[in-house]
Amino acid sequence: MSKIRLSSLKQYKADGEKFVALTSYDASFAQLSDEAGIEVLLVGDSLGNVIQGLDSTVPVTIDQMMYHVTCVASGNKNAMIMADMPYMTYTSETAALENATRLMQAGAHIIKLEGGAWLAPIVQRLTECGIPVCGHIGLLPQSVDKLGGYKVQGTDQPGADTLKRDALALQAAGVDLMVMECIPSTLASAITAELAIPTIGIGAGAGTDAQVMVLHDILGLKTRPTPKFVKNFLAEAGSIETAISAYAGAVRSGDFPTAEHSYK
Ligand code: KIV
Repeated sequence: MSKIRLSSLKQYKADGEKFVALTSYDASFAQLSDEAGIEVLLVGDSLGNVIQGLDSTVPVTIDQMMYHVTCVASGNKNAMIMADMPYMTYTSETAALENATRLMQAGAHIIKLEGGAWLAPIVQRLTECGIPVCGHIGLLPQSVDKLGGYKVQGTDQPGADTLKRDALALQAAGVDLMVMECIPSTLASAITAELAIPTIGIGAGAGTDAQVMVLHDILGLKTRPTPKFVKNFLAEAGSIETAISAYAGAVRSGDFPTAEHSYK
């Protein structure tokens, strides 16, 4: 397998082929996921939940993210490493540039930011400086206290219209990829059809260009409340390697997610 680049992911979208993302926080799992052909390893700030045992991603710091990006980079050969910019590290262009630089120098190939159209000037500045950016719209875990909990977003017409406008504004500002979390499947499919850039869904139905899941969720670890979009791939697999391959295979074949894992 050759190194995954943005051009590879854009080609998958052009060819109508799905690609696969999975969170990764350390070298061993990064190696297994890379060897299983996972295209994007997301060093998510979900590490606050699954590694640190916290009930939100708010306390996660840039130094902690850098540490985990370094670990993942040690185990990875070919996958694209995406790193989350943690809470309040991208509230100005200067802060975003400084913190994105730290993650890129730790081994990330692209950084991810949570938020809508208000991020456009920040995305534009990062893009001008040559830093690839992934947007993240829908349920924004860093804003859980403002959103009033982990809830499906875009369920009414004004909410859906805002998400569409956010997606288009972020694309115009230069994002290369777009994560959409916990939104109705029909809305995610409509946004995917409207955007030229690849979309990556989590709890967004089967109509996105790719899927991302939290590693611990596909391995059936139930140390925190499990959302409806999660599937345990280890249950029938027998080994972690087979479970990761089964997840990737199910995404590529369109067998995952099903309606059971999606929102209306
Ligand atoms: O932090 C994370 O794992 C994420 C995914 C939920 C998309 O951002």
